[in-house]
Amino acid sequence: MVKLRHARGQAKRWSTLTLVLSMLFMLTVVLLLLLGLGIFSLAISGEDSSPNDLSSSYRRMAAEKDRDGDGLGDRGEQWTEILSWEPRAFLYHGFLSKEECDYLIALAKPHMVKSTVVDSKTGKSKDSRVRTSSGMFLRRGRDKIIRNIEKRIAEFSFIPAEHGEGLQILHYEVGQKYEAHFDYFLDEFNTKNGGQRTATLLMYLSDVEEGGETVFPAAKGNISDVPWWNELSECGRQGLSVKPKMGNAILFWSTRPDATLDPSSLHGSCPVIRGNKWSATKWMHLGEYGI
Ligand SMILES: *[C@@H]1O[C@H](CO)[C@@H](O)[C@H](O)[C@H]1NC(C)=O
Repeated sequence: MVKLRHARGQAKRWSTLTLVLSMLFMLTVVLLLLLGLGIFSLAISGEDSSPNDLSSSYRRMAAEKDRDGDGLGDRGEQWTEILSWEPRAFLYHGFLSKEECDYLIALAKPHMVKSTVVDSKTGKSKDSRVRTSSGMFLRRGRDKIIRNIEKRIAEFSFIPAEHGEGLQILHYEVGQKYEAHFDYFLDEFNTKNGGQRTATLLMYLSDVEEGGETVFPAAKGNISDVPWWNELSECGRQGLSVKPKMGNAILFWSTRPDATLDPSSLHGSCPVIRGNKWSATKWMHLGEYGI
């Protein structure tokens, strides 16, 4: 009797073990099935490429819905691309709507004056042959539409709107250009307000038929790897270039993450060959910029 009970107990233990094992087996099968169906995805794709390999950087990063809601007009599909890590530069598709571009141009058009550059000795503006465009500033927070755009810039760059200068609207006609330069300052005078310029957001308000590219001549990486290489002007092929497209914007950094100056941020605007170019620039400082 004692023996029998013992045997029965053992049988019970066996059946429990079988049950647990078969349940584990079934769980494994289900998990493998789910993995096979792609319901769970493991991070095993080859996303880790060399930072300067531009070919693999041209990858759609995020399809982002319009979160503003109250922006002027329809911005269409929006997504960002990494252009380069040296300089740190990103291309945002559909940053502005056509209506916003037209609005900025219409506001600026009656007030355009020949562009100047900042004299590093006196801090004053001076005429220059390296910059032949015309332009004007739109005061920060000037109206609802501009405040909305400035909020969007702050969200994309993670820099508060209060660190930004007014929007500068620029117009380049055939032959006009801005030779390669840095946006950061090497003098004391120009860094009194807000400290050093840390980032620039450049918005294209028009398409340009030919030329007018934004070029980064000191960018690291294979500059001929961009998908639009064959469409670039001779000037555009002197570096990593972006073709102006209405509504698109590029964000690039003049400082590294440790706030030291980044000389690879050298950039210029190639001469317009056909058509004309309208752009809007937002310069952002490390600290609050008083207006
Ligand atoms: C740069 O990219 C182009 C276009 O993809 C390719 O033909 C060329 O071999 C690359 N050059 C180098 C040095 O990797």
